[in-house]
Amino acid sequence: MATERTFSIIKPDATRRNLTGAVTKMLEDAGLRVVASKRIHMTQEQAEGFYAVHKERPFFGELVSFMISGPVVVQVLEGENAMARNREVMGATNPANADAGTIRKELAESIEANTVHGSDSLENAAIEIAYFFKPEEIVG
Ligand code: PPS
Repeated sequence: MATERTFSIIKPDATRRNLTGAVTKMLEDAGLRVVASKRIHMTQEQAEGFYAVHKERPFFGELVSFMISGPVVVQVLEGENAMARNREVMGATNPANADAGTIRKELAESIEANTVHGSDSLENAAIEIAYFFKPEEIVG
């Protein structure tokens, strides 16, 4: 299996509850390595651009408002099969449906305040990484 890079966001519900370390530990324990990380407060334009694919969804406005409600930590994660591995440790979008031991089951508050975002394909991972990071900010 090839070494991959994927993109992760530790969402405002997690930074508010001081869970940045707890989330990162679960990612690291799953075999992922943090090769870039920064804490930012997204602007509305940045969040709308990031989630543009969801702009017709009924929850788009709430999703954007939530993502700019506090700081987030954007990260690049590296490892064997990193995209799928990250999706596995994140758990289902709705924490009520997430498996025990996943980040969302253990830490998330609701379908909106669900603690983490993770790229859903390698193609999107490359786009999302480039949205927030310059190549020289990623140190493998
Ligand atoms: S999909 O079709 O798989 O892309 O959609 P899904 O993963 O379910 O959701 C996409 C993102 O929207 C967030 N979401 C919501 N936010 C607010 N309210 C509601 N009801 C809601 N449903 C889904 C969900 O957390 C996903 O955010 P990201 O950051 O991509 O994980």
